[in-house]
Amino acid sequence: MIHSEQLKSTGIPRNGDKLNSAFFEAYLPRLLEERDRSGLTNMIGGIEALMISVEPGNAIAYIAELALMTPYHYLVTLDSPGHLTHILRIDMNSPDILLREVKNPDHYDIFRSLNDLHPAGSQRPHSRYLGEILWVSDRQQVLELQQAREFRFFSPEAMASLDLPTNVSISKPSPYTQNVVGYMERAPGVMRVYHPLGNCNILSQAQDAYETAKGLQKQLGIADLILPIDHLATRVYSQNREAALLEYLALSSYYYWGSYDIVDQNSSTNVCKSVRSVPESASPAKVFTANNLPYCVNHLDGLPSPTENFVRNYGARLHHIALSVRDGETDGKENIDFVVDAIASQGKGFLLEVIGSRADGLKQIFSAASPFSALIVEYVQRFGDFQGFFTRDNVAKLTAAAGTEESLSGS
Ligand SMILES: [Fe+2]
Repeated sequence: MIHSEQLKSTGIPRNGDKLNSAFFEAYLPRLLEERDRSGLTNMIGGIEALMISVEPGNAIAYIAELALMTPYHYLVTLDSPGHLTHILRIDMNSPDILLREVKNPDHYDIFRSLNDLHPAGSQRPHSRYLGEILWVSDRQQVLELQQAREFRFFSPEAMASLDLPTNVSISKPSPYTQNVVGYMERAPGVMRVYHPLGNCNILSQAQDAYETAKGLQKQLGIADLILPIDHLATRVYSQNREAALLEYLALSSYYYWGSYDIVDQNSSTNVCKSVRSVPESASPAKVFTANNLPYCVNHLDGLPSPTENFVRNYGARLHHIALSVRDGETDGKENIDFVVDAIASQGKGFLLEVIGSRADGLKQIFSAASPFSALIVEYVQRFGDFQGFFTRDNVAKLTAAAGTEESLSGS
């Protein structure tokens, strides 16, 4: 993770056809050039961990779900006054998951307040994706530079009272995405640690649930087919699309890969990727989805608006975690079909059929939203050397399927 050369975030070819405003096109290169010049691009690395919180009593069932549906392993549980924090890991080449479980259902904090503001979010007041922790070479220096650029962070006292790891600096929730960004130092070759988060134990209930689910994953023959996270997709209000992109670029060392207009679904898919030449499995791409038009004019056109509906129901938040599926075939089926059939046989739902084809370059599917985190799992299998994130037709179908589900669960 140590780079002697100066990384350059501009001049990278752009993908996509979605047009941005003159404001965005003027400020994007300014922001990236200043970030490179300030040294932040070199000082901030990839995604070290994702933070997800669930309702009291739901963490063990969610660990079992993730052990079956993803490559994650249960490692250990940290016990602090208000929370249990379960650490899930694939290995040190991919981000960890910090699964936070509030102990007291009446617990109240800033993250709950974000859920309480929204009709579907408030039904699971403690369950949401909080954000990512990024690697940094010098936490204090990055913090000072970001604070000087008007980004706000929780104080050490606030971090302690939120039971968040005090060796991490965490931003206040974004006004655009409601996600946080954390910074954590780690020397090359050293394991990730999160401290001091109280006593560290392997919970027998969690270990048993994990081992049973992982055993099932092996027995189904899918353990080696499901690969690490490919991208993280956040949904934001229409008017916040460009600000959300610029904000994430200012806080990370990602660059703007490009945006696609998904006309059928009145929305766009906007992608940022690490400026370092690392695979998505090491530092997933960040995708932001926004409606093309805000809901308040929709009575004039009556266009489908699944993305805006989702944000109104749940608040801006992470919508899905996409996992890669190994390219190839198993028992005469393409691997993604084999994985989906195996997981569906265990009673897990999917929102649509596997879509796309070898000729398109990739196949994709959305699972039903987790009853624990409300997050959807996307599986994506790319064929050969296909580099893209999606095809326009696939995204339209996925968005439509999720919209049908979410309009029923929203209110
Ligand atoms: Fe996706």
